Amino acid sequence: MIDKPFLISPSILSADFTRLGNQIKRAEDAGADWIHIDVMDGHFVPNITMGPFVVEACRRATDLTLDVHLMIENPERYLEDFARAGADNLTVHIETCPEMGKTQDAIKKLGCQAGITLKPGTGVELIEPYLKKADLVLVMSVEPGFSGQTFLPEALPKISQIRDILAQINPEAIIEVDGGINPDTIRQAYDQGARAFVAASAIFKNPAGIKAGIQSLVEKL
Ligand code: DX5
Ligand code: ZN
Repeated sequence: MIDKPFLISPSILSADFTRLGNQIKRAEDAGADWIHIDVMDGHFVPNITMGPFVVEACRRATDLTLDVHLMIENPERYLEDFARAGADNLTVHIETCPEMGKTQDAIKKLGCQAGITLKPGTGVELIEPYLKKADLVLVMSVEPGFSGQTFLPEALPKISQIRDILAQINPEAIIEVDGGINPDTIRQAYDQGARAFVAASAIFKNPAGIKAGIQSLVEKL
């Protein structure tokens, strides 16, 4: 799944929604690999963002991989809607999936890449049984819910722990890190084994623009 040394996944959570298509195009032109879409339901996390309609709009704006992060209760109910809207990666939280093995199978059956993720307070042992089947393992480095938070360094040993497990059982899987990624933190996550990097504010709120935001991250890798 990965043929580049690293992947940049700008999160549109900090984009200007009055011109979303334009913002996505700018990110694409600046070298973005994926577009990260943060779906929040106001239950699993204390914020409400976007759903399949927005994924479908992004699908019309770009051919890049749509990296959809589902921060919602009962994600199984909506997998088909997101797949139909054009999602490529569907990442679900272990805290919301009591039957994670079945959820992973359902995602793959829809033709999507199966991502698994965990909150900062959740231990790696909870996702370990499902790492073999995962295409993508997303390590949250902030509490899910909002962009613009500070990177939690506790994520770093989790990334290396996951890297070591995947090396044994599933070396093809990609480790992605999400939350507080900026020019000061990205290299630490890379050094522990992360290869896909989500960033919202560091890219879309960069005063020098989206391109400068992406470049400021890439130059640290
Ligand atoms: C947080 C989301 C992140 C968020 C990252 O719940 O999952 O993807 O948009 O925002 P930054 O990069 O600003 O920390
Ligand atoms: Zn996210």
